[in-house]
Amino acid sequence: MVTESALPEVIDFWRNHAYDGWLAKQDVPVHTGYYVEDARTLERGWWSLRGCPAAVISLEGHRGVEHVHVLEIPPGETIPPFRMALEEVIYVFEGNGIANVWAEGQPKITFEWQKHSLFRVPVNYNYELSNARGDRPALTLHVNLLPMAMGTNPSEDYFFNNPYVDLSQLYGNQAKFYSAARPVQLSGQASFSSGAMAMRHAPDTGALAPASSPRSSMRWYGNFFPDLSVWDKLEVGGGAGRLAYRGGIFFPGSAFSIDLMVLPSRRYRAGHRHAAGVTIVGIQEADGFVIMWPEGGDYLVAPWKEGSVFVPPYHWYHMHMNVGPVENRQLRIRAPRPGANPTADPDRMIPFTKQDPWIRQKFEEELAKRGLTSLMPEEGFTNPDFEWDGEWLKED
Ligand SMILES: [Fe+2]
Repeated sequence: MVTESALPEVIDFWRNHAYDGWLAKQDVPVHTGYYVEDARTLERGWWSLRGCPAAVISLEGHRGVEHVHVLEIPPGETIPPFRMALEEVIYVFEGNGIANVWAEGQPKITFEWQKHSLFRVPVNYNYELSNARGDRPALTLHVNLLPMAMGTNPSEDYFFNNPYVDLSQLYGNQAKFYSAARPVQLSGQASFSSGAMAMRHAPDTGALAPASSPRSSMRWYGNFFPDLSVWDKLEVGGGAGRLAYRGGIFFPGSAFSIDLMVLPSRRYRAGHRHAAGVTIVGIQEADGFVIMWPEGGDYLVAPWKEGSVFVPPYHWYHMHMNVGPVENRQLRIRAPRPGANPTADPDRMIPFTKQDPWIRQKFEEELAKRGLTSLMPEEGFTNPDFEWDGEWLKED
């Protein structure tokens, strides 16, 4: 018989998530809750792991899925090289700088980034970030799937001390890995000297293939997007009640699904719900708010502006309201959703005709405070068959 005292010290990782244990050991401020009003102004503290000031953002909707942090690169400095056995998506909140990315014993790939750049570092590549300005810090937002990965393998060494690198990622046929991903309008065969190409999902299999029609749902293929704020190659998408401009981003070989959503001034989108793990980031000056709530629960209202980070918790309804005079441009970084079956949820969206009247009232009150009026179509609130026309997004 084995007595309890004879057992080695063991941790039940099903009940004690390995990521939570890892995070508890980190000497960095960890910000929790449901949203962050401005990730750029969060309290930061020295993080030994990264060798620079940092802040971890571990929100309710990130649980078990995404790890997010902000790094501060002091003026004129280079922070220590880092690598981990997971891909990382990096968005630049502030500043200008240089990135070096390489595999051990291989040449460094160098590129310049700036405010609003987005790029991806593949699994286990070393990367080193330098601030090119001597007068102000640079701030970068990093997203990876460490909680999801440590949920299947609790070994910290596996993720932070793992020599395996797939050299084909940077040194194979994607020799222009970090060439800027410029949108290319396709007409049949096209050449993609930049490495960027428009892609679409096949409706039956979901497989990605080059888009053949300018009306198709396109994604822009590449690993480096120099400036998301000026990106205007957007399409109307989202369907009835949820129309907005969208731009799909496809990082080759990535587990993330990423896109831009641009909601014009004085509009909002119907509430919906889904699985957790979508980090939504305000990437441009904006004035609005987000409402989120669990079914039958209280509304939580969060401000929305540049630097805001909002992660809808698992199956909470959520909606975006733009009550300012400018468009609301947001980056959405979606993790995989194992087990999710959205079509099995008949109430995944709340049509405007069934919406709590308080929501519309709140929207109009907030607009009035700013001397603005709603551009929502009146009939959309009464007619369940109202046809949402993309032209509505252009009204002003
Ligand atoms: Fe959503």
